[in-house]
Amino acid sequence: MDKIVVAGGQPLSGSIATSGAKNAALPIVIATLLAPGEHRLTNLPELVDVSSTLSLLGRIGCPSLLGESSTRIDTSRIAFSEAPYDVVRKMRASVLVLGPLLARHGECKVSLPGGCAIGVRPIDQHLKGLEALGARFELSGGYVHGYADGLVGAEIQLDMPTVTGTENILMAATLAEGTSVIHNAAREPEIVDLASFLRSLGADIQGDGTATITVHGVPRLTPASRPYRILPDRIEAGTYLCAAAVAGGEVTVTDVNPQDLLPVVMKLREAGCSVEIGDHEVTCRRDGPLQAIHVDTQPHPGFPTDMQAQLMAVAAIARGTSQFRENIFENRYMHAAEMLRMGARIDVQGRVATVTGVERLTGAQVMASDLRASAALVLSGLAAEGITEVLRIYHLDRGYENLVGKLRGVGAHVGRVSDDVTDRAALQRAAVAAG
Ligand code: EPU
Repeated sequence: MDKIVVAGGQPLSGSIATSGAKNAALPIVIATLLAPGEHRLTNLPELVDVSSTLSLLGRIGCPSLLGESSTRIDTSRIAFSEAPYDVVRKMRASVLVLGPLLARHGECKVSLPGGCAIGVRPIDQHLKGLEALGARFELSGGYVHGYADGLVGAEIQLDMPTVTGTENILMAATLAEGTSVIHNAAREPEIVDLASFLRSLGADIQGDGTATITVHGVPRLTPASRPYRILPDRIEAGTYLCAAAVAGGEVTVTDVNPQDLLPVVMKLREAGCSVEIGDHEVTCRRDGPLQAIHVDTQPHPGFPTDMQAQLMAVAAIARGTSQFRENIFENRYMHAAEMLRMGARIDVQGRVATVTGVERLTGAQVMASDLRASAALVLSGLAAEGITEVLRIYHLDRGYENLVGKLRGVGAHVGRVSDDVTDRAALQRAAVAAG
């Protein structure tokens, strides 16, 4: 296995091109199941989660081909309708096959995901919404078996604006007979991107991006004649803006929708960074000391839970006491314990974390627990004195395309080496060597 080595203390300078959004790519790849034929997607990020999703489709009988400019997925035939435990346990987003398979195939079998590092994460709202459309479910042997003899439009009231729950129901409703209304729907940009993709297949959807989505079912969907471009990853871009904040210097993220980054931009300004917004780019610059911030995670358009850990790396070296409240997931502070090993002062009490800024962090060996926690540890390493080794980086490979290369491109001393490399001089060389 590999680890990431960071030699901290280098101010950053330059620009980073943003990749396609993981959390838009996964549902869109799965949504191709709704329309038999050949689909073409562009700006699909090169991530382990994306290749796992493509191989899940392969197991269902829908092969894909990665080309230079686009990825082709052939969904002409559905041979199997199962997402087995070994796939779902690695990637919870696999449960998104429920809606499309029930709508097109009338049957599916999906392993229940179980808990994960950031919380319990049930899928009761997904099932409730699909049941309202006429699906029936049985739970046995850790699997949910779903059946449907034609879905029928319905009014669905979600208990909370779940992102993948909204996506599952939205996809199923496109082929239901009649009109469906999803109340208290998630409003994330990734929902809007999925709805745009579904419209390109012929779906009739209104209200995406608001809390009420209306879907008029159509008898069939067909692949679009043009390739569909996945929207830019606002969380990846936000992570690199935070890199400039912790390391100092200036980073421009290009190919972004600045509007989608506003909650992060506002927090970085509160922290004392100067952030400039262009048409498709955002620049974060930090010369002076960072100031304490208050972060309260909320569903979109509030502050995203997927940026909480990265902002904690900023708060760790800010002047004064910052406060975080994680409202979405009950266990999303795993990075805090690791950051303590680097000299951060963080006190976690339930959903609230109090961070007392320190003058500097010190490099240490730390363990990544989930995707965003891993990013926070790399950022902490950029701000630390000495060498930081981030272990278990397979989490990062799930959601950040070429993180090491992109950070090196703006002058960070970051490298990737085998876990076996322990010699200090070799680690230093790996972090500093030209990529
Ligand atoms: N919830 C339920 N019942 C449900 C569904 C959700 O109780 O049926 C709860 C969850 O346990 C959680 C809250 O509702 O407490 C919100 O969870 P949500 O369903 O919105 O999360 P998700 O759809 O499983 C997506 C992203 C996550 C991101 C969250 C919140 C994808 C593939 N994943 O997860 O992304 O944190 O929305 O924005 O879109 C990441 O990229 O690192 C990541 C974890």
